[in-house]
Amino acid sequence: MSWRDRVFCEDALEGLARIPDGEIDLLIADPPYGLGKDYGNDSDKLDNDAYLAWTEQWIDAALPKLKPNGSLYIFLTWRYSPEIFVMLKRRMTMLNEIVWDRRVPSMGGSTRKYSSVHDTIGFFARAKDYYFDLDAIRIPYDAQTKKARSRSIFVGAKWLEMGYNPKDVWSVSRLHREHKERADHPTQKPLEIVERMIKASCPAGGVVLDPFMGSGTTAVAARRCGRQFVGFELNPAYCALIEQRVADLDPISTQTSDEQVTG
Ligand SMILES: C[S@@+](CC[C@H](N)C(=O)[O-])C[C@H]1O[C@@H](n2cnc3c(N)ncnc32)[C@H](O)[C@@H]1O
Repeated sequence: MSWRDRVFCEDALEGLARIPDGEIDLLIADPPYGLGKDYGNDSDKLDNDAYLAWTEQWIDAALPKLKPNGSLYIFLTWRYSPEIFVMLKRRMTMLNEIVWDRRVPSMGGSTRKYSSVHDTIGFFARAKDYYFDLDAIRIPYDAQTKKARSRSIFVGAKWLEMGYNPKDVWSVSRLHREHKERADHPTQKPLEIVERMIKASCPAGGVVLDPFMGSGTTAVAARRCGRQFVGFELNPAYCALIEQRVADLDPISTQTSDEQVTG
């Protein structure tokens, strides 16, 4: 049976061997952040050195799976992004540090330092000719901006119709308990973010690899965007959740959402 369009309920470090080298268009990695979260296993309970050693291990197992024009997005926090970005910069070209502003409301938070309200996303490519479809992720100008540019010199201006290039600060609400997209996973990422990555960085019909599937956001997003997926997840309860989320996608919902990431 093919490894495509499957999520294997196993350790990514072992499972990656199932995938031949050079077959993956896009790698989206959302590993445990090293902050002690409970994923029903000990995967987020490593000390600093062990966490960084494990990170280097999975990076070295996953990167050879990428095609020569493939790329990688990695979700992190400020806690370990400096060390992990250095690791990746030794192996790839860094294109962006994207700040995901989780739109956390101003209540409480840290009292002896600033409250952290963003995740850090690294965007890396294997080579200069990496795949990137800017037109697929342009953000339409709002009616007010278009109106302000209604003078004759702007009429028919292509850029005005096509929308603008997203910036490197993405302002998207985290998934609240009441959010309709929310599944039973503590660090589920919004489809809006993952779909932008896929539309920009994986050609139609291509394959997205996610070594740490969690609730299966990457699998759902890939299917909705008409791409293939493959991934791994340690926790059997999350594996069942992924299967359910993918099965719940009917042909209508496999069209991409028209929601836009701001930024
Ligand atoms: C940050 S969460 C991923 C969340 C996911 N992006 C989503 O939107 O639901 C990380 C996941 O990796 C899983 N995990 C940790 N170590 C793993 C390993 N070695 N192999 C496979 N999965 C692992 C955890 O059980 C957890 O569900």
